[in-house]
Order: sequence, then C-alpha cells, then structure tokens
Amino acid sequence: MSDDPKIQELRDLKAQTRVGGGPERIERQHKRGRMTARERIDLLVDRGSFRELDAFVVHRTHDFGLEKQKYLGDSVVTGWGTIEGRLVYVFSQDFTVFGGSLGEAHAEKICKIMDMALKNGAPVIGVNDSGGARIQEGVVSLGGYADIFLRNTLASGVIPQISAIMGPCAGGAVYSPALTDFIFMVRKSSFMFVTGPDVVKAVTNEQVSFEDLGGARVHSEISGVCHVASDSESDAFFQIRKLLSYLPQNNLEDPPFVQPNDDPLRMAPELDTIVPHDPTKPYDIKDVVQYIVDDGQFFEIHENYATNIVVGFARLGGHSIGIVANQPAVLAGVLDIDSSEKAARFIRFCDAFNIPLLTFEDVPGFLPGTIQEHGGIIRAGSKLLYAYCEATVPKLTVITRKAFGGAYDVMSSKHIRGDLNLAWPTAEIAVMGAEGAVNIIFRKELAEAQDPKKRRAELVAEYRAKFANPYVAASRGFIDDVIEPRETRPRLVNALEMLANKRDSNPPKKHGCIPL
Ligand code: HXC
Repeated sequence: MSDDPKIQELRDLKAQTRVGGGPERIERQHKRGRMTARERIDLLVDRGSFRELDAFVVHRTHDFGLEKQKYLGDSVVTGWGTIEGRLVYVFSQDFTVFGGSLGEAHAEKICKIMDMALKNGAPVIGVNDSGGARIQEGVVSLGGYADIFLRNTLASGVIPQISAIMGPCAGGAVYSPALTDFIFMVRKSSFMFVTGPDVVKAVTNEQVSFEDLGGARVHSEISGVCHVASDSESDAFFQIRKLLSYLPQNNLEDPPFVQPNDDPLRMAPELDTIVPHDPTKPYDIKDVVQYIVDDGQFFEIHENYATNIVVGFARLGGHSIGIVANQPAVLAGVLDIDSSEKAARFIRFCDAFNIPLLTFEDVPGFLPGTIQEHGGIIRAGSKLLYAYCEATVPKLTVITRKAFGGAYDVMSSKHIRGDLNLAWPTAEIAVMGAEGAVNIIFRKELAEAQDPKKRRAELVAEYRAKFANPYVAASRGFIDDVIEPRETRPRLVNALEMLANKRDSNPPKKHGCIPL
C-alpha cells in the first residue's frame, strides 16, 4: 500500500492489467493444460527481462454489448525482453479475453512492437492462442489482420520471425504465423485451421476432430506447416530459445560465434565405414551429421515431415551453419515435391540471414511417377534449384555416395556457385545408376544378346567401374577434392574459415521470380 493515492491508483490499475479475463477463465485455461499469456512470456524470456507496452489499451467497440466488457490490455500482452541476453520482441495472445480474438486495439499493439522490432533489428516471437478475427468488431478486425500480414511480409528476411501456436488458432490467427519463418506447436494442445470442425461439417459434411484437422501431428508430419512439434508448452519455449542461439538478430549481422569445446581438428574414423559397399543399402545421414558437427548437436527443423531430406542448424568450429542432407534411410534419399520445398525454404532462410550452408549429398534423383508429375515435381524441384542458385552465403558440399542426374546439379553443385565441393571415395557421380543406364544405352544389344543376363551384368560392371566413383568429376574440377571421410570435420571447419569474408551478390533487381 502507498500513501500517495495517485501511486496507489497506478498500482491498482497495473494489478488489473495482470488478470486478463478473470480467475474463472484463467482456471479454465489451466484445466486445459495451457498457460496464460503472461506465464508463457515468463517462460520464454530471461527472468525479469520483460518490459510490457500498452497494458492500458482497451478496445473501442460499442456493438454486441462489447462496450460493457473492457479488459485492460485487451486480449494480447506485448513488449520486449531478452533471450540469453539478446533483445527480442514478444506478443502473447490472451485466450481468457474474448478467446484471444483479434480486434482493432489488439492488432495495433502487435503492429507497434513489430515496427519497433524492424527498426531496432531484433527477432519477433508471437505466442498465438486466438479464435481469429474478433467477430463483434467486423471489418475492423480484418483490417487489423491485414496490417499485421503486411508487417510480417516486410519484416521477412530482415528479422527472424517465430510463431508459437499454443491453443486453437483459427482464421486469421493462422495466416500471420504462416508468413513467419518458423512455427512451433504443442502436441494435443495446439491446433491450426483456416476453418474449424463446425464449419467443415457445415460445408463439406465431413466430421473431423480438432486434432485430425489441424493438430501438431497433422502439421508437423503431413502439411509441413509446423516446423517443430513439442510435448509441452515449456518444451516449445525451450526449443525456441535454442533455435535463436543459431540465428543473428537481423539480416545485417552474422550469426553468433560460440567458442567450441569440440576440437575443430577432431577426426571421425567411424565415417570411413559408414557408407555400405552395396549401393542399395541404406544408412542414416543423421549419424554422419552427428560425427561431424560440434558436440554432435543438431537442431532439426521439420524432423517428421518429408523425412527423405534432413534440414537443421548446427555449429562447426563454433560457426553457425544450416545443414541440408539427403537421407538414404528414407526412400533412398530421393527428391520429391515435399522434400524439395522443405529444403528450398530452409536454404532461403539461411541465405537471408547469413548462415553458411553445408550440403550432404546421396541422392538417386527425382522420384518418378504420375503422382509426382501431376503434383508438380517440376515446379517443386525448380524451387530447390532456384534456392541453391540464388544463395550467396558460403556453400559447402560433401558427396557421400550417389549424385545422379538432375539431382547432382541441384544439390549445391560447383556449377551453381558451390564454394567447396568435396567427395568421399564412395561417391558415384553419373547421369543415372548403372542398371538404369545400361538398360537404356544397350537396349538393342541386350535384346540381341545370346545370354542377356550375363551381358547385362558385364555392362553394368563396366559402367560402374567407369562412373561409380568421384574421379571423373574430379578430373574436370567439378569436385574440388576427394577426401577420406574421417577428415571431413577439419576440412569443413577450415573451409568455413577460409570463406569467412566471402562476398558474392546477384544482379540488382526488385526481386526474383521464384517458381512458386
Ligand atoms: C470473438 C471469440 C472468438 C472470435 C472465440 N471467442 N472466438 N470472440 N471473436 N473470433 C470467445 C468465445 O465467445 C468465448 O467467450 C471465448 O472466446 C472462448 O471460446 P470458446 O468457444 O468457449 O472456446 P473453445 O471451445 O476452446 O473453442 C475455441 C475456438 C472457437 C475453436 C477458437 O471459439 C471458435 O471456433 N471460434 C471462432 C473461430 C472463427 O471462426 N474465427 C473467425 C475466423 S475469420 P467467453 O466470453 O465465453 O469466454 C478470420 C478472418 C481473418 O479470422 C482472415 C484473414 C485472412
């Protein structure tokens, strides 16, 4: 208690700003296993670092009885704080106030911190828990969403934008996150859909649960909308903090350097035998990644989506890098529509934020078939090609085994500005695999052969001896060096340091026309 009535009034008002929609709604939120907007911010940012803005803002609507329901701060908490001492801007939607729905005042609060984030060059983290446009405010809320969408777009590639989905997000509440760089969801507790199950039933007569329509499993495994799925809200915040440790504050900064404990010269003899002699046998590319990067630490993005390609962040000799790796353990590492788009998006993010790219290549080509062709594999594959061609960050490539056909060109080849392209002795660089090649170029001879089986085996062996190695490509300079697998880490750390001052650019233009 203060003796000064003005100070006491302020304290009372501040206390009011902290209770959102009231104890009953807070209890309901907790009963559903969800935290309140403020509890979430407390977990996300460094202890005591949060500074709130606009806690006294209220809505200005007089329709549908809203004038009798005003909550200080409206349905969103906004401000800034730090994560590991680095500035971040945060908004956290308050489901206890009008279901976190977005009206004019709510939108203005978010826009204010987005403008500050852009001006001051720091990431924005949005904690989303909202029923979408506030129905009672009508078109004003639609305008509010559009104001945010515009800012999301203008900030894209300038500051990292991260979305945590923490409840049932519908309508406009999913499109702003969709414009951001990374979406984190919580299993069984967060949902994203353009229209909820009731509308789906009314329009299509389809009966579907929240979980099956837009749960974390759906979006992290099927649609690819979600980048990281967690089992709890607190884990999602832990993951967001971890992700930020790899990222610069904005596109004009380099990513943070972390003094490595892991010896940059460490050899990994395990890699010498990791690729099976039989080219049809799989191995896990994530094992390769773990043997090479600092302390085996790999922050995977889209872990359960399009798993035939692996993408994520790691450090090499303390430098933050983005890894793109074909995964021979899934569909032989083939490139299809989803994996092409997954990798293309990741590459463009890394390029926008000065994060060098390391590519591990073991790819038999693009996936054949009507499903892929009709689904637009040509368009999707060209996005990946475009992303690699356009990227000007340091680009390192290691061919571990197959580099066949168009996929050889696409996966950061020398021809599209790869800075250092290495191959292991197990590399096979050719237009296609031996069996397929022999069937095509010797079709006539095989048809006329007395013993076609024997002749095919001879021709396959001949083709393999000629092309199933890295030396033809190396003799042209398409591969810079063939190395022993065990020395991959020191070679890559050295290359990153050699490329530390790399400057490259694309011709001046408004923007390219990526084949979306
Ligand atoms: C105003 C809303 C609201 C909304 C929820 N509430 N959504 N108020 N506008 N859009 C309020 C409820 O009235 C209720 O108030 C409280 O929030 C909690 O909602 P419940 O329905 O009780 O919660 P729950 O059962 O968990 O369901 C959550 C929900 C559901 C799935 C989000 O409320 C829902 O379907 N809401 C509507 C979703 C929607 O269609 N939004 C408009 C999308 S159009 P009380 O007072 O009881 O606590 C859109 C256009 C933008 O967003 C497009 C841009 C591209």
